[in-house]
Amino acid sequence: MNNLLVIHSSGRVTRSITRRLTTRLVAAWKTHHPDGQVVERDLTQSPPPVVNEPWIAAAFADPKRRTPAMLDALASSDALIAEIERADAIVIGAPVYNFGLPAQLKAYIDQIVRVGRTFGFNAEAAQPYTPLLQSKPVVVLTSAGDGSLLPGGALAHLNFLEPHLTTVFGFIGLTDVTFVRVGHEEYQDERLAHSLAAAETAVEELAARGAPAAVAA
Ligand SMILES: Cc1cc2nc3c(=O)[nH]c(=O)nc-3n(C[C@H](O)[C@H](O)[C@H](O)COP(=O)(O)O)c2cc1C
Repeated sequence: MNNLLVIHSSGRVTRSITRRLTTRLVAAWKTHHPDGQVVERDLTQSPPPVVNEPWIAAAFADPKRRTPAMLDALASSDALIAEIERADAIVIGAPVYNFGLPAQLKAYIDQIVRVGRTFGFNAEAAQPYTPLLQSKPVVVLTSAGDGSLLPGGALAHLNFLEPHLTTVFGFIGLTDVTFVRVGHEEYQDERLAHSLAAAETAVEELAARGAPAAVAA
């Protein structure tokens, strides 16, 4: 069974470039995985809770001593992590907002990066941090209003979305991350058309190679 988890984080439901690309990738993926299952999580329609004091107390408590209230505080985190564990591959629509992640995607990251659950911590060890998730392909479909934020562009060093996602996913074990990028969305001219066409071709090529798909064990 091939199980694809699709995560949306654009604030827009209409006219969204990242939703257009995720839709395109899912459609192409389905033609190559007719028996595959697609699970969609829309972080804008259902934003994850922000991490607060009860969450932090629960996450860092001894799991054997968690109270019912603590288990309750971690319920969303448990569900989101289980969804990742069930997936064979993950697709994420991730717009650049203010040089980084949309808040709803950051809230999601804060729910899934959890000590003892997705990463281990041992203060005595030479390497204190251990990723706990099994690696699986992650494709990030991203769009920026200004094309100069993309790799090779004059403002690429100000794009904190890509290094943030690569770092945080690698930290929990998801080291196989591919980016497909669109730039110039704010200009609405031929540069956007060219960038979008290239991204759509890249998406079709990924799907034609069977990606994203788990490598057989
Ligand atoms: C709140 C907000 C912040 C944005 N910040 C940036 C930015 O820092 N740099 C940039 O190039 N584009 C920025 N944009 C433009 C978006 O990256 C662009 O519109 C992108 O296509 C949004 O993704 P979507 O089409 O899937 O909604 C911003 C857009 C919004 C709504």
